[in-house]
Amino acid sequence: MTPYTGGFAPVTDEITAFDLEVTGRVPAELNGRYLRNGPNPLSLDDPSAGHLFLGEGMVHGVRLRDGRAEWYRNRWVRSARVAERLGEPARPGPVHGGMDFAANTHVIGLAGRTFATVEAGALPYELSYELDTVGACDFGGGLPGGFAAHTHLDPVSGELHALAYFFGWDHHQHIVINPEGSVTGIRDIPIADAPMLHDFALTERYVVIYDLPVTFSMAHAEKGVQLPYAWNDAHGARIGLMSRESGDVRWVEVDPCWVFHTLNAYDDGDEVVVDVVRYPKRFVDARLDLGGLPTLDRWTIDPVSGKVRQTRLDDRPQEFPRMDERRTGRPYRYGYTSAARDLHDVLYAPDSELEDLPDQAFDNTLIKHDLVRGTQEWRRFGRGAYVGEPVFVASGEAEDDGYLLAFVNDEARGAADLVILSAQDFTGEPVATVHLPARVPLGFHGSWIAD
Ligand SMILES: [Fe+2]
Repeated sequence: MTPYTGGFAPVTDEITAFDLEVTGRVPAELNGRYLRNGPNPLSLDDPSAGHLFLGEGMVHGVRLRDGRAEWYRNRWVRSARVAERLGEPARPGPVHGGMDFAANTHVIGLAGRTFATVEAGALPYELSYELDTVGACDFGGGLPGGFAAHTHLDPVSGELHALAYFFGWDHHQHIVINPEGSVTGIRDIPIADAPMLHDFALTERYVVIYDLPVTFSMAHAEKGVQLPYAWNDAHGARIGLMSRESGDVRWVEVDPCWVFHTLNAYDDGDEVVVDVVRYPKRFVDARLDLGGLPTLDRWTIDPVSGKVRQTRLDDRPQEFPRMDERRTGRPYRYGYTSAARDLHDVLYAPDSELEDLPDQAFDNTLIKHDLVRGTQEWRRFGRGAYVGEPVFVASGEAEDDGYLLAFVNDEARGAADLVILSAQDFTGEPVATVHLPARVPLGFHGSWIAD
């Protein structure tokens, strides 16, 4: 059965619309683009429509300028296959390991350029300002292999860090790209069993590597499983603290679990604090939906003793953690997550006991976490108003002085809004609601890319 139903149902058209209707006022300081990537199969009859992680990437974007919502565009990422299906010539560019894929997981700005990214061996695709596909990119030959979906930018050095993995490798690969877009560091970290690695963390001292028991499974590959990564009890679970200076890795054991996403991490004296959305298990028998509900948890790691303290920050199922990225790798107070009903149904259906619960128990909600006070504010949008990842855009100096941007489905209109919230007035009226001309399916990750 296809997971592309409900909020994940794909759209079939590429749209360009100008001068969008706005309720409220778009802050004049927001000059740039809010972009978000996600899987949008060309056809539900395609094999790529069989797995939530394999649909062809489509980037949705809204350009804001001088208090106006200047345009909305949505564009498929033109891998060779997508270009062919759309009757277009293939874009030029390198391919790693035969993995040409319409990057569907994230979209980032780097050195004045725009990149759609994905993991597991494929290269990023560069997009134009207007979201047309330029071509696959290996940063001028700087990447030895593929890239990563998730990257972390050091807000002080301006360096972009990534960790790449590939089923054919006996290592993960740490990549550093400078603010000019050149690869300046490559380090291979030996890792057994070719585990999946979706995200990692960065502190001032360390690159934090999650070596968790979801590994490439030849048995599932031979059975024709499209994404042959499976929970593997034999692999164990550990966290690697790789010194950014020396490259030495200190491994510490943790209880077996799975992590897609980091909220943030930082050095606290000699200890290292790592905040993640953590699952008890995932990819059991290579199935995305098996393995229990996620919680927002904190690991406090003592690299000297090798001891790890695990505490729970929030036991409510949630995903897509984001924060003020001026604080990446540094002590911080606020985090933002999403609890999207349709994501829940796709990711955790067999475990879900939420079917009969009232709206207020679980619908489509953004959560603001105050990690100092240990409190949360919940902003509910209601059933049918599926809401994705909230992206924080800084305004003033204070950590939560800024805006949160997210696409929210307007069920009545059958179309999406770009909702702009004040982070300091999280449950108040939106600062602005930009009315888009079409649905935006639930997707994965996005960025605010200032002009
Ligand atoms: Fe992700």
